[in-house]
Amino acid sequence: MNKFLIFLTDQLKIWYHLFTAFLGLFLPSRRKDVSKEIVLITGAGSGIGRALSLKFANLGSTVILWDINKSASDAVADEINSKSPNKAFSYKCDCSKKEEVYRVAENVKKDVGDVTILVNNAGIVSGNKILDIPDDKIELTFQVNSIAHFWTIKAFLPAMKKNNHGHIVTIASAAGMFGSCGLVDYCASKYAAVGTHSALTVELFAEKMDGIHTTCVCPTYIDSGMFDGVKTDPWVMPIMTVDYATDRMMTAILTNQHLLMMPRMLYLAYYLQSCLPIPVQLLLNKWLGGYHAMDTFIGRRKQQ
Ligand SMILES: NC(=O)c1ccc[n+]([C@@H]2O[C@H](COP(=O)([O-])OP(=O)(O)OC[C@H]3O[C@@H](n4cnc5c(N)ncnc54)[C@H](O)[C@@H]3O)[C@@H](O)[C@H]2O)c1
Repeated sequence: MNKFLIFLTDQLKIWYHLFTAFLGLFLPSRRKDVSKEIVLITGAGSGIGRALSLKFANLGSTVILWDINKSASDAVADEINSKSPNKAFSYKCDCSKKEEVYRVAENVKKDVGDVTILVNNAGIVSGNKILDIPDDKIELTFQVNSIAHFWTIKAFLPAMKKNNHGHIVTIASAAGMFGSCGLVDYCASKYAAVGTHSALTVELFAEKMDGIHTTCVCPTYIDSGMFDGVKTDPWVMPIMTVDYATDRMMTAILTNQHLLMMPRMLYLAYYLQSCLPIPVQLLLNKWLGGYHAMDTFIGRRKQQ
């Protein structure tokens, strides 16, 4: 096709997508059927991963639960299998270890089949200011929160590409869009996760893999226990419940939404971040709790 024709068809596509996005503001989006999907969720033993596992299982999906804490993912699998036998499979997998991810991925393919929905959810947080974070903790935070996504994607994307069918979900964070005190390593690792999602989306689009969808989730604080102790202004930044947050995540996944930010006002904050002067952005950040929310952080570290 000559360049002018390509330009013309791209123009038509742009107007088509703008029009359908506009309609989407008023019409409910169609939810896809996931009853035949094989869904793998990392960090499925607690919090968001556990809740997503239960919600996918309720919709009839086969769920594969990975966690570094096998007894936790076993308990979730038992909970699911007691209602729907043979729907959940639990594996111990430390996602920070490349060889372990590849080895367990091969076992999953043999035992259950090809994964069609991959949810990269496992995550950790140190919660210290930059000079107080031990070096190994910084490295581990990157290994779990972002580098692990490469290993799981490399393990499961080939089968998705072969069938041009699949979905890769990145549970990132608002910390992957906005900086925050006491979270420098965590924010950096989540920015990397958001970047991986963005570039992967472009790569799949350029390769015409229109049957493989990507969703990136960027929430603020959720009451899973990971950020216990954090204090926010309930009017500005309410701490969401796991159930509410994962309901919205499921809606985003089932409607193939590309990016989900929670709460909604983050979309405005994200836009403002691209055009406001830095001092104004910093004041906005303070207003959103970015300076002091982590001062009272306890997290899982001190619970244990
Ligand atoms: N809780 C929040 O406020 C919040 C907000 C935004 C984003 N997130 C993100 O959501 C995801 C889930 O967080 P959560 O709140 O459910 O936390 P959580 O601590 O309840 O769950 C994390 C799970 O990951 C597992 N895990 C940790 N390291 C692992 C590893 N190396 N390999 C495999 N599994 C490992 C843990 O055992 C745990 O079951 C994380 O990526 C987190 O960064 C959480």
